Amino acid sequence: MRRLFLAGLLAAAPVLSGAARAQDAGDAAAGQRVFNQCRACHTIDQGGRNGVGPNLWGIVGRKAASIEAFRYSANMRELGAAGHTWTVDNLRAYLRDPKAVAQRGIMSFPGIKNDTQLNDLLAYLQGQRAP
Ligand code: HEC
Repeated sequence: MRRLFLAGLLAAAPVLSGAARAQDAGDAAAGQRVFNQCRACHTIDQGGRNGVGPNLWGIVGRKAASIEAFRYSANMRELGAAGHTWTVDNLRAYLRDPKAVAQRGIMSFPGIKNDTQLNDLLAYLQGQRAP
């Protein structure tokens, strides 16, 4: 009986730590490397130019579609008009699966399914804003 209980605990452990991981504070340095996937389309330095996608300086806490000079999709402009703000949670949902948040959006990116990479990226993005 006791053995069974222990075996149950051992089986549950990886599942539990996996669940905890999704909430982990990420590693910003590792996130900077994850951001290399975004650089084809986005700059992130302050005042950086828009490319295929808008500049991402200060993205955490920024309202959707708020770079005036960038031509967003109608879908993204509607989100912004409705008050959609890029909180960490909203960014997590968008970057995991862009179409899940903006179905008619124009960001051609499949999304990051790996939670560790996603948390690292979010930690990096949070640092890219005025102190
Ligand atoms: C192939 C080009 C491309 C890649 C790669 C790409 N994006 Fe985008 N991104 C876009 C475009 C285009 C938009 C505008 C979407 C719209 O208007 O629907 C956008 C929009 C965004 C927005 C919303 C910005 C705003 O001002 O509301 C965020 C946040 C974002 N991208 C983050 C990322 C991150 C982080 C990555 C890397 C993991 C990434 N993108 C990869 C093209 C890209």
